[in-house]
This record gives sequence, C-alpha cells and structure tokens, in this order.
Amino acid sequence: LIVNASDGSGRPIPDTLFGVFFEEINHAGAGGLWAELVSNRGFEAGGPNTPSDIDPWTIIGNESFVNVETDRTSLFDRNKVALRLEVLCDSKGDNICPAGGVGVYNPGFWGMNIEQGKKYKVVFYVRSTGSRSLTVSLTGSNGVGNLASTVITASASDVSNWTKVETILEAKATDHNSRLQLTTTTKGVIWLDQVSAIPLDTYKGHGFRNDLAEMVAALKPRFIRFPGGCFVEGEHLRNAFRWKATVGPWEERPGHFGDVWMYWTDDGFGYFEFLQLAEDLDALPIWVFNNGISHTDEVDTSVISPFVQEALDGIEFARGDPTSKWGSIRASMGHLEPFDLRYVAVGNEDCGKKNYRGNYLKFYSAIKQAYPDIQIISNCDASSHPLDHPADFYDFHIYTGASNMFSRANAFDRASRSGPKAFVSEYAVTGNDAGTGSLLAAIAEAGFLIGLENNSDVVSMISYAPLFVNANDRRWNPDAIVFNSFQLYGTPSYWVQKFFSESSGATLLNSSLQTPPSSLLASAIRWQSVDKRNYIRIKVVNFGTNTVNLKISLDGLDPNTVHQTDKSVLTSANVMDENSFSQLKKVVPIQTSSEAVGKDISIIVPPRSFTSLDLSKQ
Ligand code: AHR
Repeated sequence: LIVNASDGSGRPIPDTLFGVFFEEINHAGAGGLWAELVSNRGFEAGGPNTPSDIDPWTIIGNESFVNVETDRTSLFDRNKVALRLEVLCDSKGDNICPAGGVGVYNPGFWGMNIEQGKKYKVVFYVRSTGSRSLTVSLTGSNGVGNLASTVITASASDVSNWTKVETILEAKATDHNSRLQLTTTTKGVIWLDQVSAIPLDTYKGHGFRNDLAEMVAALKPRFIRFPGGCFVEGEHLRNAFRWKATVGPWEERPGHFGDVWMYWTDDGFGYFEFLQLAEDLDALPIWVFNNGISHTDEVDTSVISPFVQEALDGIEFARGDPTSKWGSIRASMGHLEPFDLRYVAVGNEDCGKKNYRGNYLKFYSAIKQAYPDIQIISNCDASSHPLDHPADFYDFHIYTGASNMFSRANAFDRASRSGPKAFVSEYAVTGNDAGTGSLLAAIAEAGFLIGLENNSDVVSMISYAPLFVNANDRRWNPDAIVFNSFQLYGTPSYWVQKFFSESSGATLLNSSLQTPPSSLLASAIRWQSVDKRNYIRIKVVNFGTNTVNLKISLDGLDPNTVHQTDKSVLTSANVMDENSFSQLKKVVPIQTSSEAVGKDISIIVPPRSFTSLDLSKQ
C-alpha cells in the first residue's frame, strides 16, 4: 500500500460523513434509549374504545377483592382512557384485602432495571371516591421483595378530582427484572392514569438511558437521522409518526401504534426529544417527515397541502423564534433557543410510489421558499442516473449479503460528480451471512465503508441501520447495539463503525494498493484529536481467507515525527462469530501499541479481518 502522507496532501472529507440513524424499531426507543420504565403508561395501548386491553398492566387481587376496567374519564382530551379500580375489600370488616393490598402492577418492557442507591421519579394521576392510602412500590418480578416503596395518603377532598402525584423512590437493592406496583387496602373506587417511572439519572438529564446513549456517543456521530425508516411511513397513514402528536406535555400525548414494527409507543420520545438528543450528542438532526405516503395508502398531490404545512410547522417548531406559533411550544418545553435543524428528508423509501414526485415537489418548493438554507433529501437514488427533480441529497439504502456488500465498495466510483450528493442512510449485511451480527457482516461492511470514504467527494453522509435492538423484540436482524433491561453490547458492525468515526472532517490521503488481491481494500486519513494531536490512520480490510503480508509505504512522511503506532485488529476464530450477553466481547478489536516505526511498515493482515493503524505524530 502506497500512501501519500506528505503534509498538506489529500482532500477534505465532509464534516458530516459518519452519523447514526435512529428508528423506533425493535423497541429501540420505547423500552430502550428512552428511559421511561412503564409500558403503556396511559392505558391507551388497547385502543381508544373501552373496555380495552391494559397489557402489560396486570391486576393484583382476584374478583372478590377488586374489579378493574378501563373507562374514558381521563383528564386528558387526546388520550381519554383511564383505569378504574373498584376495590371491594377493606382493611377491616367482612372482606379483608389480601396482604399487600389489591391494585395493578406494570412489569415495564420485559422487566424494569432497578439499581441499588439509584433514585426513580414516579408520577401518576389519581382520582378516588373517598379518602385512601395508596402504596407505590418497586418489587421483584413476582411481587416479592421491596426494593423501594412509599405510601401516599390522601383525604377524599384531595383526590375527588384528578390529582397529580409525584414521588421519588430510592432503591435499597438491585433487581434487573422488577415491576412497579400501585396497591391499596381501602374500599371504594379509584382511577389511575398516566403512570410514569423514570430514573433520575439520565443522559444529560434529558430522559435517555445513560448506557445506551453513551454507546451512541462513542461513535461520535455528526448527525442523527430520525425517526425512521418505515416507522415514519406507517403500514397505513393513520398509524404513521406525526410529529404534532408527540410534542407538548408528555401526559397529553396520545401515543400511537406503529403498525410496521407492530408495537405501541406512548411517544414520550417524541420530536422534541429527538432534537434534544441530537443536540446532546453534538450531532446535526436530520428529520425525516411523512410525505403523505405510507406502505399501503397515499395522499394525492392535489390535496397534499396539509402535509406540507405540517412539515413547515415542524421546521418552525425546531427553528422558529420563541414567539412564533410552533417555536413557542418548543420554548414552553424548555428549549428557548432554536435547534440546529439543517436537513430534512421527504419520506422514506417512497421514490417508486405513484405520488412521490408530485408530493415531493410541493414540499420542496414550500420549504425552499420559507427556509432557503434547509437541505432537502430525496428518496430517489441518483448514483447511476441523474434525478428528474431538484434535491440537495439523495438517499441510498442497501441491505444485502456479505460478498455483494464488499463488492459495493466501488458503488459510487462512477456516480456523477455534479448534482446532489449521496446520503447512504441505511446499509447493513443481512440474511444468513449476518445472523444477529456476525464478524463476516462487519468485515464486508468495512470494505463498503472504505469505498465510501474513498468516494467522499460525492458521498456526504453515512449511517448503519438499524442502530438498536431490544433482544426481547427482535423485529429486524442484525442491529448495531443489542440490549435488554440492563445489559448491552456492540455487534462487530458497531466496532467497525467506531474506526470510521474519526473520518468525519478528516483529510483523505491518496493511497493505492499495488497488485492488490481483490479481497483487500484500504484507505488512509490524516485526522486531529480533540486535544489537537495529529494522526495518520490506515484502515485495511481483508475479506479473503488468506493471510496477507502487507507493506505500507508512507511517502513524504518524516519518520522522526511519528512517536507511537497503535494497531487494532478485529477478527475471530470463526467468521460467523457474534457477541452475546454471555460473551459481550467475543468479537471486539484488540489493540497493540509499539514505539515509532519508520516510513515503511510491514503488517500481517489476518484472513477475514479489519485492521486500523494509528500513527501519532509529534
Ligand atoms: O432499517 C430497517 C428498515 O429498512 C427501515 O425502516 C426502512 O427504511 C428499510 O426498509
């Protein structure tokens, strides 16, 4: 490999090159990155009509002690369903309540992770026909064991109307599979609604699960595309993500059933929270909005204007003055300053749909007129032929087998150098080659990424998909980060991405493999760390099954300026090896460091491996 490493050589890589794509899929947000522990907190998931299913809420006590049903008496207009408990037993008299009382419990999303010494904020709305005390507790999965509890006592006058209760529980012990219980031993009728439990300690104090957010932050994403994916489209338009239903006080949000990935979300993680997350990650938000097209129905272009207005309002929400109609709602949610929204995507994977172009043009012209600086992303691929409509970027998605992915390293070699730039917003090896996250998939993707890096004059942004999977709800395989209530790990694909995070805003050095085996790919960059140290990073992918002795010549480099070389290798005994909860680090990069090396380096590149060499310069 010959690298032109002389100072001043190379060309700049876009600042935005590597980012992440967050979609509400696999319970990535609800029951994942969003730290809310209660599932179906407003009792709305069973639908707006009553009686309805309250799953996963479960009744404590049998019919001789308590009757539980839903009614439509909620305080909140957009989510009218509330839980009504008619308590038949009492603490004295003929029908004494069972020990521990009667009521309901919520197991969260496959168990709540409660940790000793941590504090949890519990909020709920209550109404009652008489005075009562209500025990709020965090217990083991079978209701046994008191991790934390408090008793709320209220006189009849206090709770004859809906009343908000807030309490902080501090856990005395750890249980990764606990539940929240609300119980009473007082006869009468009690209503509950909008029950929330959330750890006090969340990422930057904004409601995100720390460990998962930190795992994303470690990728140093320069952008975050959200909230989908198919989640934005919906199987039917009535179930699409519509941003206006996800902002404002959490108690008032209606929530919705995502009918592509088939689960309910309370939409606590709404449009505002996405924008906040982007800011907290120091990443630019890329908002994908619904363009009047779902998987099965489409709004005709002649009547698309309400959707266009909704998109304009969404931009105003993010960027508008706090005195503007939608900017004022953002401000009321605690973010006076505008968010740095510069990019929007018109729909997701809708290019082939009947009304796409017609609708797109309406969105394009209205947005450009109101916000000329907003960059607009089209769903239509322009990698092999020009677009027939104006755009700043075109979206490119690829899910394929390992060999095909590796061979796509040159997918953009012949793409037009003029016109819109490519946003490779979803890529992954899928199917048998990938399993639930194999080394083979990661190596093939690394090859693809090297090709994209070398084509970063036309490829401006890249993100893997999907980002997260809650292992209890695998809707899509593989995914970059796997988690349950308390554990998490990166798949080999996650680890490959980490080595590309320094490329955003770096300098691409001219490099060429001499007589390369077709299974070897490489790239070289010059980059600077936050503490202003200068590095040269060489990345090499060996997709083949033979070991390669690779000689690297760093032309123009003064060897005296290099004082350390760090080599990281990602490989494993078997190409189908994966990480798992029992072996979190089976396939992770292994780093070795050595003293300064000369301008000619020889490395042994193992078969089926990814290698990164960092030469730190003085
Ligand atoms: O990443 C999973 C899905 O793949 C996305 O929702 C969609 O855009 C694509 O088809």
